[in-house]
Amino acid sequence: MTKTIEALLTETRIFNPSDKLVKESNVKIWMNRHGIKTYEELLEKAKNTEWFWDEIAKELEWFKPWNRVLEWIPPHARWFIRGEFNIAHNALDRHINTPRQNKTAYIWEGERGGVRKLTYHDLYQESNKLAAALKNLGIKKGDRVMIYLPMILELPIAMLACAKIGAVHCVVFSGFSPNALRERVNNAEAKIIITADGGYRRGKIIQTKKNTDEALRNTPTVKNVIVVRRTGEQIEMAPERDLWWDEIVKNTSAPSETQTTPLSSEDELFILYTSGTTGKPKGVVHVHGGYAVGIYNTLKWVFDVKEKDVWWCTADIGWVTGHSYAVYAPLMLGTTSIMYEGAPDYPSPDRWWSIIEKHKATILYTAPTSIRMFMKYGEEWTKKHNLSSLRLLGSVGEPINPEAWMWYYKNIGNEQCQIMDTWWQTETGNFMISPLPITPLKPGSAAKPLPGIEADVVDEDGRPVVGKGGYLVIKKPWPAMLRTLYKDLGRYEQQYWSKFLDSYLAGDIARKDEDGYFWFQGRADDVLNIAGHRIGTAEVESALVSHPAVAEAAAIGVPDVIKGEIIKAFIILKKETEPSAELEKELKSWVGKEISPIAKPELIEFVESLPKTRSGKIMRRVLKAKELGESLGDTSTLEE
Ligand code: WTA
Repeated sequence: MTKTIEALLTETRIFNPSDKLVKESNVKIWMNRHGIKTYEELLEKAKNTEWFWDEIAKELEWFKPWNRVLEWIPPHARWFIRGEFNIAHNALDRHINTPRQNKTAYIWEGERGGVRKLTYHDLYQESNKLAAALKNLGIKKGDRVMIYLPMILELPIAMLACAKIGAVHCVVFSGFSPNALRERVNNAEAKIIITADGGYRRGKIIQTKKNTDEALRNTPTVKNVIVVRRTGEQIEMAPERDLWWDEIVKNTSAPSETQTTPLSSEDELFILYTSGTTGKPKGVVHVHGGYAVGIYNTLKWVFDVKEKDVWWCTADIGWVTGHSYAVYAPLMLGTTSIMYEGAPDYPSPDRWWSIIEKHKATILYTAPTSIRMFMKYGEEWTKKHNLSSLRLLGSVGEPINPEAWMWYYKNIGNEQCQIMDTWWQTETGNFMISPLPITPLKPGSAAKPLPGIEADVVDEDGRPVVGKGGYLVIKKPWPAMLRTLYKDLGRYEQQYWSKFLDSYLAGDIARKDEDGYFWFQGRADDVLNIAGHRIGTAEVESALVSHPAVAEAAAIGVPDVIKGEIIKAFIILKKETEPSAELEKELKSWVGKEISPIAKPELIEFVESLPKTRSGKIMRRVLKAKELGESLGDTSTLEE
């Protein structure tokens, strides 16, 4: 008899992988090849970090091998010293002249239903053409190219074209506002922006070109805008500056001749901006060599990707999950990936399930917030489709609550698929704490640090703690770690490496149980997690105070059933301004326009004063405790 979810939960049941999954898993095959019998033995051996990563890196193609695996002068690591490498060569070139060239790299489905497939050879050709066009426009190694595109195939093509010639790409999520785009363009000092005439989302058109034009007021470094034709809408094209993608690639010479530039392992691949604790986003910098090695192996092992798999990472490529696991890692593994343009529940709540059925997805990787949304729509929508092609599931972005875990396990995985709950960050580049297909699962826990990763939970003094919450730290460098924050080395050192000596501070609170399983509990800092997206409270606040009616603002996260957290803003208005429902609405859309709709506060409360420390810092902790009806904790620094 099947038990209820509640009964299963109270048992804190452990979910063991099937013998078949274990036996055939990529990690097990690797262990056998290295004469390693147990997982414990693998972890022990991988503590020899240099041996471990040396073995993994050999699975990729290098123009010239490295002569040293790691140089670690805390907090700065360089990996695969003197190696010559290019991630684009591994993602594309190395499949050409092998049977893989005819394998489908992407099955893309548009929101309006169209399907476009690209083989590895097609993808290679298209990237080569754009790479040649970028070169013609004067883009050289190290130049920054901004990419502001919706979820269309030109997005991975553009990233690969940049990588190929050693240009540094900087993708900005297409849901970001013109102001947010401008700030990033100027910080990166980009020469070119690649965008589209528009994109489709929930039946509407998102105006990426119009936003770009608005963003480009006051961006002195930008010389050209490359525009993909997607919607065919009438848009303005600035003479000289704006160029149609299809026209510039038409005139490039034989595309197969665009040589991939051999780079140093440590050459920059991309900058990706993410939210931190200040109002200014941080430009996380990743490099070609170590990043490639890390993401390649984690996808291969954690999701056990095999030749016949159809992989679907639902993340937008504008975030790190899309960079690592919808573009580079699956391509390096020669995988077929699904890419979907639009909203998950458009035109009906079974859109995703129809995609899985139609394209026979075998592995699905998504976020708890999406699962909770589908839970709300109910099982009638999942039952309409045959999801039996699925063999593994994954979760990322926030802790997955056991209820969502069980729903995912039962309704999507038909109780046949293990769920890989992967903890990682933009900064870490790849999965850090995650089960493998050989790991017994505890719903709600991301299991243990992966081989080659040494993580722990420590107290305020840096002492390891078990059974209670503490700071998550990584105690050794790893190949895919961020190298710096763009143009801000000081912030890199201060933010991640100053609290505990030579340990990376992730900013998350976690608990380690007696079995060594990690349970994530949220952020330790003023970073919110709204539907799996990182937003800094300071960003929301600075957007609010830029409105003429606002004197002061404080933003906090409030628990929400679907999004995990939503934003509540407390606002002190300027004198002579009266609170009103209209003003509340206006402020919400103001933040949407200043940053992005995902950063909109859902709740606004107009107040007379805010709790502050004597030095004038807003105590968000106090606001939050009051909001949730909890004890106010230590208020000794509170002014009043
Ligand atoms: C949170 C997304 C619990 C965490 C890949 C982290 C998670 C932040 C998980 C990074 C997970 C991500 N369990 N929390 N499996 N995955 N997080 O940079 O707080 O957008 O610090 O990278 O998301 O968000 P980012």
